[in-house]
Amino acid sequence: MADEHGGELDTVMQESRLFPPPAEFSAGARIKSLEEYQQLWDRAAADPPKFWADIAQEELHWFEPFTEALRWNEPVAEWFVGGKTNACYNCVDKHVAEGRGDRVAIVWEGEPGDERTLTYAELQTEVSKCANALKSLGIGLGDVVSIYMPMTPELAIAMLACARIGAVHSVIFAGFSGEAIADRNNDAGAKLVITADGGWRRGKVLPLKETVDEALAKSPTVEHCLVLKRAGDAPNMQEGRDVWWHDVVDTASDECPAAPLDSETPLFILYTSGSTGKPKGIKHTSAGYTLYAKKTFEWVFDHRDDDVFWCTADCGWITGHSYVVYGPLAAGAKVLMYEGAPDHPAGDRFWDIVERRKVTVFYTAPTAIRAFIKWGDELVDKHDLSSLRILGTVGEGINPEAWMWYHKKVGGERCPIVDTWWQTETGGIMMSPLPGAIPTKPGSCTKPLPGVVPAIVDDHGQPVHPGHGGWLTITQPWPGMLRGIWGDMQRYQDVYWSRIPGKYLAGDNARCDQDGYYWIMGRIDDVLNVSGHRLSTIEIESALVSHPAVAEAAAVGRPHDLKGEAVAVFITLKDVDPSEELREELKHHVRKEIGALAQPEDIRFTGSLPKTRSGKIMRRLLKDIAAGREAVGDTTTLEDYTVLTRLRSGKE
Ligand code: WTA
Repeated sequence: MADEHGGELDTVMQESRLFPPPAEFSAGARIKSLEEYQQLWDRAAADPPKFWADIAQEELHWFEPFTEALRWNEPVAEWFVGGKTNACYNCVDKHVAEGRGDRVAIVWEGEPGDERTLTYAELQTEVSKCANALKSLGIGLGDVVSIYMPMTPELAIAMLACARIGAVHSVIFAGFSGEAIADRNNDAGAKLVITADGGWRRGKVLPLKETVDEALAKSPTVEHCLVLKRAGDAPNMQEGRDVWWHDVVDTASDECPAAPLDSETPLFILYTSGSTGKPKGIKHTSAGYTLYAKKTFEWVFDHRDDDVFWCTADCGWITGHSYVVYGPLAAGAKVLMYEGAPDHPAGDRFWDIVERRKVTVFYTAPTAIRAFIKWGDELVDKHDLSSLRILGTVGEGINPEAWMWYHKKVGGERCPIVDTWWQTETGGIMMSPLPGAIPTKPGSCTKPLPGVVPAIVDDHGQPVHPGHGGWLTITQPWPGMLRGIWGDMQRYQDVYWSRIPGKYLAGDNARCDQDGYYWIMGRIDDVLNVSGHRLSTIEIESALVSHPAVAEAAAVGRPHDLKGEAVAVFITLKDVDPSEELREELKHHVRKEIGALAQPEDIRFTGSLPKTRSGKIMRRLLKDIAAGREAVGDTTTLEDYTVLTRLRSGKE
């Protein structure tokens, strides 16, 4: 039965297959057995601040040591109080200082096939130059820099350069619209935007600077725009405002020591969708986030010196922040970075990269795996993937069939799969198998990492019985947790810390089985998960009603083979007749307001929307209709039954 939030609490997946880690894998792993994991977890849970403080002392560089592990004033956390460190120093300079400067940090491949390799020493030079260029553009401690770039080494360099001088980066995924960029610039008060003339995607150039120009017309706080020449386009460059990367970065001095910063200095803002129309600027800070990204990277991907690690996420999302940049670089790993699409020039581009670059750890999203399955086994079969030793997934649940395909076809039945559950807000992975220690069950993110203490509760905050579904909460602060919503601490308190007193409310439904394995069952709020990306229904609705023809709009998710969920919208029109042209125009309108990722798959025009007597749109019913299911939920509060009949018969 569906509960009031649309979660299918009791109809849970029954999956009993168990895949223990191969014995020889466990023998060489960092954490070698379930017992070893359990001991570590128990020790951490007994005193999380002490557990994290020991790791922080040992594994981060401190210009000045911290004096207190955690100062907790719910919901405000301060980790490693009194300490001075620098995220960029930990990701770059520390390795150079410790004699590992010649190790490869980033191996990059552009979509057209160009490539670049940067050692840690070279990365230090590039980052220092970029940091000096930022300073010359008036950027300093606490200033916000928006970054709207293709997946090039310069994107990582720009992020690290901000971190080096205590500026706060706000990376905006390069698929967002000019409107969306302007909203984010204005919310954060950004002083600088870093972009490129373009980026390659499926053989075409995305005109990034052009989109930024639209945003800059509405971004009064932005003083300069720094532009990387990537695609060879000749964008408009506004005199006095816009400067080329090759003019100011390439010519800058490479002497720029990393600034010693207080542990809680803001490191970045990353906007994500919540249950209201306005995206939330999730705030992360220097010491705790860096430590958490590093340690979770090492545990979950069982990091070894000879690994070639490839996380396919774009740096526009948290996965790219934590597992392309901060986590692996803080661990001194060799990171592969790829600019373009998985199907360019053909559907085996990823497998071709894995084979040529001898990738050992591969981390991607279920939506990509579903696409690979559709494109056909022969594309995988023709490549030698024997370098792989661990596979990972993130962003949404993976269904057991896709898991089995990944295991057999990509992993050759020898690579443990780490299904990692976490969020923009958590900063790093919270629940995941440790590949040498925890037997996996297809579709489960298995167990919490050491130092993470979850609880599944009902809507009164009471723990549910084992095996039952409920709201997923985290009961202890952890170093990677968000420190707030940029400029809106009240909303931070309201969204995450008010419904269930004393616990962090993640926003997901989950169930824990008799073996202590967690199963994530979808959101409790109006957040959609389209191809692993978070979208708020209200954000899409607001975009639609800003069009002059639209009276009312309701957006819901419906199951989609490749995307997981697709956006379906129901629309009532003002004095206009529905038409195919209008449908296309509205799709285009959403692209323009938010970005291509939010474009509705279906638009249905209707005379009225189903509402409760108190006037709330009954999304649950619309969800059923969009999915082609009989509306099975409770309709007793529906104000006008005929609406439902008419919607179902598709007559309007
Ligand atoms: C969902 C991405 C099931 C979940 C790192 C969460 C998952 C939201 C998983 C966060 C997983 C993420 N299994 N669901 N392994 N990983 N999710 O902020 O609903 O983009 O709340 O962070 O994605 O999405 P976000």
